Amino acid sequence: MAPMPTKTLSLTAPAATAAILMAVVMASMAPSAAANEEVKALIALRNGLDDPSGELASWIPDLVDPCTWVRISCNDDNRVNSIQLGNLNITGPLAPELGKLEQLQYMEMAGNNLQGPIPPEFGDLTNLLSMDLYKNNLSGPIPSTIGKLKSLKFLRIDHNRLTGPIPEELTGLSNLVDVDFSSNDFCGTAPTSGVFQTIPSTSFDNNPRLKHPRNDGGDDSSC
Ligand SMILES: *[C@@H]1O[C@H](CO)[C@@H](O)[C@H](O)[C@H]1NC(C)=O
Ligand SMILES: *[C@@H]1O[C@H](CO)[C@@H](O)[C@H](O)[C@H]1NC(C)=O
Repeated sequence: MAPMPTKTLSLTAPAATAAILMAVVMASMAPSAAANEEVKALIALRNGLDDPSGELASWIPDLVDPCTWVRISCNDDNRVNSIQLGNLNITGPLAPELGKLEQLQYMEMAGNNLQGPIPPEFGDLTNLLSMDLYKNNLSGPIPSTIGKLKSLKFLRIDHNRLTGPIPEELTGLSNLVDVDFSSNDFCGTAPTSGVFQTIPSTSFDNNPRLKHPRNDGGDDSSC
């Protein structure tokens, strides 16, 4: 009776191995939940934009890995860490869903015609190193949630139509090395404590209603 089980085993072992291999292959092909969230966030952005040069035509939800899309880069874990959409003449709003790209480090969207507010949800991008949104048509206030972006080094939001006071919450962004608030419509008195002690006064230029202790301009009475 002994040979029987041995023979059975020798027949089924390759089948079992094949089944295991198949399961491994299928698991590696299936999109992770995180990748799906990132696809949804990027498609939400794309769907709101007018993209005259068709640059984002390759952003197709069926291609479940956004790491293969143009102008998107990923880290070693296949999570989106960079969006490079500078100077494409794209028009439209910034999708709040981008706040779900939790590994994002570089948001490069300068030199377009982006409109509407900076979403408060961007305060969830806790790995963000650069927020380059200069030379657009953004309006509304800087959300106080931006003060949560403790990794942020570059905050360049000049040449827009942003309004309201510059939030005190930004004074705790101790890693900032390059900041530009110029050519907007900020009002009130610019913060002066924390990292703001090192921001050159030219970074506040051309905000007629913004008062800054180190330059002449501004009158905060209308804020
Ligand atoms: C930008 O797009 C607008 C239409 O959305 C178009 O009128 C304009 O010519 C474009 N500018 C450039 C530099 O491509
Ligand atoms: C800027 O956005 C406003 C709406 O917020 C729009 O009326 C205006 O035409 C835009 N400016 C340009 C240059 O597209």
